[in-house]
Amino acid sequence: MPRVSGVLRVPGDKSISHRSLMLAALADGLGEVNGFLASEDCLATLDAMRALGVDIERRGADHVLIHGVGLHGLKAASHPLDMGNAGTAMRLSTGLLAGQRFASQLIGDASLMKRPMERVAKPLREMGADVRTRDGTPPVDIGGGRCLRGIEYAMPVASAQVKSAILLAGLYADAPTTVIAPAASRDHSERMLLGCGVRVTTDGLRTTIQPTEHLATQRLDVPGDFSSAAFFIVAGLLGAAKDGLLIRNVGINPTRTGLLDILRSMGGSIEIQDARQSGAEPVADLMVRASRLVGIEVPESLVPLAIDEFPVLFVAAACAEGETHITGAAELRVKESDRIAAMSAGFTTLGVTHQVLADGMRIVGRPEGDAFGGGEIDSHGDHRVAMAFAVASLRAGKPMRVLDVANVATSFPGFVALARSIGFDIAESPAPRSGLASRVPQVL
Ligand code: S3P
Repeated sequence: MPRVSGVLRVPGDKSISHRSLMLAALADGLGEVNGFLASEDCLATLDAMRALGVDIERRGADHVLIHGVGLHGLKAASHPLDMGNAGTAMRLSTGLLAGQRFASQLIGDASLMKRPMERVAKPLREMGADVRTRDGTPPVDIGGGRCLRGIEYAMPVASAQVKSAILLAGLYADAPTTVIAPAASRDHSERMLLGCGVRVTTDGLRTTIQPTEHLATQRLDVPGDFSSAAFFIVAGLLGAAKDGLLIRNVGINPTRTGLLDILRSMGGSIEIQDARQSGAEPVADLMVRASRLVGIEVPESLVPLAIDEFPVLFVAAACAEGETHITGAAELRVKESDRIAAMSAGFTTLGVTHQVLADGMRIVGRPEGDAFGGGEIDSHGDHRVAMAFAVASLRAGKPMRVLDVANVATSFPGFVALARSIGFDIAESPAPRSGLASRVPQVL
């Protein structure tokens, strides 16, 4: 089995990168972002902000200057805003655009055009916005020109995207807006709005924003994305060499690190080193050591705090001794793909015994020494499914090929090169049979 080792850094946080552009665009003056994630998803937000009249300079791969236009300075785009694969870009922009004087239309790629948008449209309509979807999915049409009301809204799902969309619309409302969540979800919007001088308060699961006229500019350092680090955390647990795998400068905001708690209860050795603060966000280096994992019942309360990490958690569970039960995760069905179905199909190919549940999966682990099979796995165009199966290749007994992987670039440009640099035996094959192949010499 290939061993992984060394020191690596993962690209900037996707959630923070999207928000950094939006908030800097609405601020008065020049904003600066270092460590920006120049992935397809975040570049969709960047293009959308430019189309709305914001001057954005790209000074280097991850260095961006944003000439803020102020809260009322955006201009109508001359064309529909294409958000590509990015749910965050579409949902947060819907909130942002609901309070503008002009109309906008939001579209996306085939996956995004199937994703649920009423979850943001409904509360925004309660605020008085003119937001329409087509049978619940994009295109999203935003009429604009409405005065928004401050509301109190109880969200049916613990979604940071919905919460953030409402908070952004709340900037333009006539009174405070409160979102009540059924459980905690990532709080980057709250931290960043506070950094811009906006009055946002959190009281348990209630978040309240006061409307404002001005946002202050910021100089922001974006930490490494915990969700990208997750693939290498699991890789290190499955196959780190003696000295372990060190992942530097990873965001460890507690609303993002549910996977750490889950993997530690499975017996994973992940040490937080040099914990420090980077602006409003906590960051650290993570030392991961090879560990014998055991199956557990994943507490449902941790699901929203690990929501993007389930594909790779499923892989960790498939390598653990005993059974892992994951429930309360129905949201996985409406991500970039139906992640429960996509992971199940791949597990069937690899010979991993599992049972699909409406809201999760029961996975029977195959500990080290009991290798998976190999074969062709369809990622369904989902970046995280593709990368999760790349990690599974560390335990495959035969060559594997993961298909339809172009969307890895939506969140993790350079994934294959980074994986190879720490010891993965993996290569990217060119289109049309674009895919990630492990055990390269045997398949190419
Ligand atoms: C995100 C929130 C999560 C997450 C997504 C990014 C965000 O979505 O899955 O990748 O940046 O707010 P939900 O809010 O739909 O859970």
